[in-house]
Amino acid sequence: MSDSIDLAAFPRDFLWGTATSAYQVEGAVAEDGRAPSIWDTFSHTPGRTDNGDHGDTACDHYHRWPEDISLMRRLGTNAYRLSVAWPRVVPGGDGPVNARGLAFYDRLVDGLLEAGITPSVTVYHWDLPQTLQDRGGWSERATAEHLARYASVLAERLGDRVTQWATLNEPLCSAWIGHLEGRMAPGLTDLTTAVRASYHLLLAHGLAAQAVRAAVPGAQVGLVTNHSTVAAASTRPEDVAAAARMDGHTNRWWLDPVHGRGFPADMRELYGVELPEKPGDSETIATPLDWHGLNYYFPATVTDDPTGPAPYAREVRLPDVPRTGMDWQIDADGLESLLMRLTDDYGVRRLYVTENGSAFPDAVAPDGSVDDPGRTGYLEQHLAACARAVRKGAPLAGYFAWSLLDNFEWAYGYDKRFGLVHVDYETQKRTVKTSGRRYAEIVRAHREGLATI
Ligand code: FCB
Repeated sequence: MSDSIDLAAFPRDFLWGTATSAYQVEGAVAEDGRAPSIWDTFSHTPGRTDNGDHGDTACDHYHRWPEDISLMRRLGTNAYRLSVAWPRVVPGGDGPVNARGLAFYDRLVDGLLEAGITPSVTVYHWDLPQTLQDRGGWSERATAEHLARYASVLAERLGDRVTQWATLNEPLCSAWIGHLEGRMAPGLTDLTTAVRASYHLLLAHGLAAQAVRAAVPGAQVGLVTNHSTVAAASTRPEDVAAAARMDGHTNRWWLDPVHGRGFPADMRELYGVELPEKPGDSETIATPLDWHGLNYYFPATVTDDPTGPAPYAREVRLPDVPRTGMDWQIDADGLESLLMRLTDDYGVRRLYVTENGSAFPDAVAPDGSVDDPGRTGYLEQHLAACARAVRKGAPLAGYFAWSLLDNFEWAYGYDKRFGLVHVDYETQKRTVKTSGRRYAEIVRAHREGLATI
């Protein structure tokens, strides 16, 4: 069922965007002085990704970016969220700057601006230079300092044209999935390392926010975090407590310190890992932000799991609910409620949905078209939820659909397709899907002042 979208709720200057990240689309991993990142290492380690897929070529966006900007123009979007590959710009992590790597982002930003598309640049979307991992990666405080220096290199170069900056993408995934669950790079499964990584990621965020501000007067700096609503699988007290722990692990651990409340005491106790705190860190982590970016995909329902890894709560699979091709439950109300939580509980004064989208197994018709009703419905439902949140007071200033293109979906490789635009990986042919055409219609209707669609 698709809901109608209350377009009049969105401000006139709303950013209608799409999003990608460097390693997922660029390819050209050995070109112009780029060094390997932890994702090159991880994806080339047998058994780590589906089909052994890796980002060596991906969408070849490094060469095809002009065509990809043309696609954005076809969609009528006025914003694009991209990330910069740290190993292109500072290949050694903390060593010399690679001019050829930086030049790529110069060209890309210029191309976007020429097309009337506002770039929103994410400094770090998971592709840590491998050399830094070899020195301990996010378990080391120095990595946070190196990220801040890389952020200032970027900001000094692009800051004359880029005002929208995000420090990190989804530190939860870097820390918990990368260092505790082991399903993402660097593929570790150690609670102490994971908690230290979470701390240093948030410290890196604060240091990078300050570095960008210092380099770019008037920069609009934010952080992108991913969240889920968390429900208990039953009214059993054990399940209710498990839901509170999962909420701490998924939501409060990240939002509380960034919004000035410090790390939640119950979660500190639960992890039982001493944080590598130094005087002044909590203020750095809570550096006031211009905006907060929410990535939302699915809700969680959990049950008590005393033997499982922290937070000793396990997701249960609800029967008879709609799901995407990732097997993720579809629940647009969750997006509305998280937007309201950021607004009401955390007092965020400007919000973006920096990612939201769905994977489905798309079929290419004999005439080459790609009809994707599942993704189209997901998009409509979640935009309708955004509009409801705006009506209730959420200061939502933009929505970035994940993703512009089908791309390298991390450990799931190329089988999981999130694009509004289909990519044939053999030929690199791009085809706008039905969902992309629908997004274009919605964006145009808002621009033309239609009240609903
Ligand atoms: C998010 C990531 C993004 C993409 C989507 C599907 O967790 O930030 O890179 O993989 O999930």
